[in-house]
Order: sequence, then C-alpha cells, then structure tokens
Amino acid sequence: MNVIFPLTGIVGAGAMGRGIAQIAAQAGSRVLLFDTQAQACEAARAAIVAQWTKLQEKGRLDSDALDRLQQRLHCASSLDDLAGCDLIVEAIVERMDVKVALFTQLEQRVSERAVIATNTSSLSVTALGAQLRRPQRFAGYHFFNPVPLMKVVEVIAGLRTDPTVCESLAAYAHQMGHSPVQARDTPGFIVNHAGRGYGTEALRLVGEGVTDFATVDRILKDQVGFRLGPFELMDLTALDVSHPVMESVYHQYYEEPRYRPSVITAQRLAGGLLGRKSGEGFYRYSQGVADTPPEADAPVVSDGDMPPVWVSPRSTRRAELLQLLKQIGARIETGASPSAQALTLVAPLGFDVTTVAVVDRLDPARTVGIDLLIEDARTRRRVLATNPATRPDMRRAAHALMTRDGKPVSVIRDSGGFVTQRVVATIVNIASDMCQQGICSPADLETAVTLGLGYPMGPLAMGNLWGPANILEVLFNMQTVYGDPRYRPSPWLRRRGAIGLSLLHQEE
Ligand code: NAI
Repeated sequence: MNVIFPLTGIVGAGAMGRGIAQIAAQAGSRVLLFDTQAQACEAARAAIVAQWTKLQEKGRLDSDALDRLQQRLHCASSLDDLAGCDLIVEAIVERMDVKVALFTQLEQRVSERAVIATNTSSLSVTALGAQLRRPQRFAGYHFFNPVPLMKVVEVIAGLRTDPTVCESLAAYAHQMGHSPVQARDTPGFIVNHAGRGYGTEALRLVGEGVTDFATVDRILKDQVGFRLGPFELMDLTALDVSHPVMESVYHQYYEEPRYRPSVITAQRLAGGLLGRKSGEGFYRYSQGVADTPPEADAPVVSDGDMPPVWVSPRSTRRAELLQLLKQIGARIETGASPSAQALTLVAPLGFDVTTVAVVDRLDPARTVGIDLLIEDARTRRRVLATNPATRPDMRRAAHALMTRDGKPVSVIRDSGGFVTQRVVATIVNIASDMCQQGICSPADLETAVTLGLGYPMGPLAMGNLWGPANILEVLFNMQTVYGDPRYRPSPWLRRRGAIGLSLLHQEE
C-alpha cells in the first residue's frame, strides 16, 4: 500500500513533534524534522532512534527495518528544506501569532497541493486558516501525548478546509496506526470538550463540602470503573495544563455554566500545587507514589443495637435493595410507613435526601440515602448520604449494616445526585450536547473519549448502561434542587431519554 504522504515535514521537535515524526516514519513516509533550536531536532532524532532500538532489542523490529526507519528520518536545517513536502504538521509553541508567521513562510515554499496541518489543542483552526492564502489546504490534526501510545487523533476541518484534505489526513492516521475522529472546529474539539464533565463536577462536589477529594476519587473508581479518580487525573495532567484548558473552553463558549471552572484549581495553581510533577497536588507524592489519606474504619454496631430497616416505596432499584438487605441479614419492615425505631432508607435519583424526607413526610432524623443509579452488583463500593438532621446512631447503623458483606462504604453529606449520579449525568449530558451541536458523530465521540481520556466506556455507552431515562431524571431533579442551568438536560438527551432510545441510535 502506498503511503498517503510520502514526504512529511514536522515543525517543532518537542514532546509532540517527535512523537508525530516517529509514527509518520513508521507509516512509511520520509520525515523531515525542523525546529528553530537545531539541538532540539538532533535530540528528538536520537530519542526516536533510541525507541526503535529498544523495539529491536525486544525482537519486535529486525535490523533491516531499523535501518530503513533511520534512513527515513532526517533533520532539516532550514524551512527551505521542507519545500517538497506533501504534508507539514506544525507542533510549535501554542501562540496564534507565531503559528501564523510560520504558516505564511511555509506557504511561500510548498506546492499548492501540499497540506499544512496544526497540532493546536486550543486555537481555532478557522481563525488560523483565515490568515493563510490557501485555507482549503489547511486543517487541524490534534494528537495526544505521548503520541505513539495515545492512539487517537482529531482531524479538524476549519470552515474553509477542503473535505478531501480531512479524508487524506484520516487515511494517513490509519497508516500511522491511529484512530482518526472527525471534529468540527469548536472549542476543545472532542476530547477536551467531552472531558469537561469529570473534573469540573468533581470540583463542585468538593467545593460544596459534600465530601473530600480522596473520597470522590474512591467512589468514581469503585462505582463507575474509572481507572483514575478526577483528582488523581488532575494531579497527573498538572494544573498548569488542566486549569487553563477549563478556563479556555468556558470562555470560548461565552461562559456556558456547564463548563464553569473552579476556584479550587485556580487557587492551587497560584499556590504551585500543580500535581505529581511539583511533588504535591491534591495528593502528596514521595518518589512518585501518592500518599493517599486512609479511609476511616466502618463503625461496629451490635446486633442488639441494629434498628429494623424500612425502604421507601419510591426508591430506585427497590427490589434489588430489599434483596441485598435480606442477604446481609437486616430486619426489614414491610409496613406502609416506618415504625418509630426504623432506619429509613431512600434511594433517589437527582433529589437530595432532605427533599425526599420532606416530600414523603419521613422523619429526617432516621433517614439515610443510598446511591443506586448503578446496580449494586456492578459496584465495588456503596455510597450513603445523610441529611443535616440524621441522628449519629442512625448514620452509624446504616454504615455498619451496609458493610456487613465486606463491601466498602463511603458516607457523604447530602447533595442532590450523590457523587456518581452527578458526575455520570454531567458527562452524559455534555456528550449529548456535543451530538446536538453536531460537533462529531456519536461513534467518533465514543472512540475519542475512550482512547483520549481512558474512560472505561464512551459517555453515550455509559448513559445507555445506566439508562437514558434515569440520567434524565437525575438532571431534571438536580435542576430542581439547585435551580442551576448547568444541569439543564440537552434536548438531544431529552428526546432519546423520553422515548427510551439508545444514545448510540443514529437519527436519519
Ligand atoms: P514543546 O515545548 O515540547 O515543543 C515545542 C518545540 O517547538 C520546541 O522544541 C521549540 O523550540 C519549537 N519551536 C517554537 N517555535 C518555533 C518556530 N517558530 N519554528 C520552529 N520551531 C519552533 O511543545 P509540545 O508540548 O510539543 O506542544 C507543541 C504543540 O502541540 C502546541 O501547539 C501544543 O498546544 C500542542 N499539543 C500539546 C500537547 C501536549 O500534551 N504537550 C497535546 C496536544 C497538543
């Protein structure tokens, strides 16, 4: 198979440029690498060759192949050397003026058929292209760090980009062993837009004092299956990278409340608590290992002191909850209302425990909530919420009871939607709104998020698994509790949730 771009130029030999150069050479292109700092180019070439040599030592590359790869990769001494390139990928400093100056110089040198692509993660491809003589030959080609391992690339069409340019870039991405996704030129493109839900909602939970950051991380890992909690992830990415992305997407969308950043990260950034790389972020690190605050032991309540349990008839997954209570040996009350001693369990979607107790005329002092958006059998942790009036003995009883089978339990303060419901519903809602806006296809959204963010599944698949109607109910009720437009369900989700359709269903 012929390689789509036989001669590829890469400008900027930093973290991104070197990764792109490596996979372009592996795809079979001759690659010319240019950087204003000549030693950066040589260093990049040496680093790439070292990667290939490692592969050869592991037996994954024979010596002929290693030779061929090395012969394909060259350092250019000036931009003139790039004149014959079929494609030039720019990966220099993230500044509009510097990038435009480079493109102007490149356009004077390359042929009219050549494609120029930018690896920008935050600038508008349309705005950059507007400064060029041939905006139709210009597109976004957004890779992720480290490029050889992060197997997704966003192909972004500016308003004037010729669709065939995007097709060629997508086909070339396949040749480089990557999965291309097509994105409209909008702030954050796909990955940095879809990723807004996880961190921002987690920060709101901590900001509202619902619980601490380590508990949020534990809950989202153990209940939803995220590999890293949102605070672990922010520590890994570092706040000097992630906070500006939050601000940029928020402002570019004209202060859309869904993307509102948090004062928590603004302050921690100002204080230099950047994350892993500065030795301290949300967690402290010694020799690269996070010092995670230990969980408090579950309380012990003797059988004699354990109250009977009454489950609200309006609870989510009520039959499942009753079955679980039976299995763990609870004394279950079956009356129409709880006895004067009963611990009262409620499992709302979106509503807080306080509201449920008031509306259902339950005694708030004995009422505790449990999050059952996700089936208990699928989780590795249970989450309970008290309300301000919950008596300490009832809190302890609920906690002790729900850990009887050894599953860990987190007890949080009352908040509409607990932790999992809030974060999952926010992720699904933002993804739905991206589909509503036609930023990308639902399938590309799923690919971009699973490969680019490492979520256990795409946001739409997540919404399907826990039920579009349930997600919708969480959002409607959260909106009632908080009166906040950030929980306003996207019309795209409302339509599908209301008629029980899969979120991956493609409209004709
Ligand atoms: P970097 O700082 O590691 O490398 C940039 C390189 O460009 C440096 O070697 C610098 O000497 C060179 N350079 C600067 N101005 C130049 C010019 N006018 N002509 C030629 N070379 C020039 O930066 P990094 O991280 O590789 O980022 C590059 C681009 O990729 C930026 O636009 C960034 O926003 C984007 N990006 C970065 C990601 C990351 O995680 N680092 C992820 C996705 C996109």
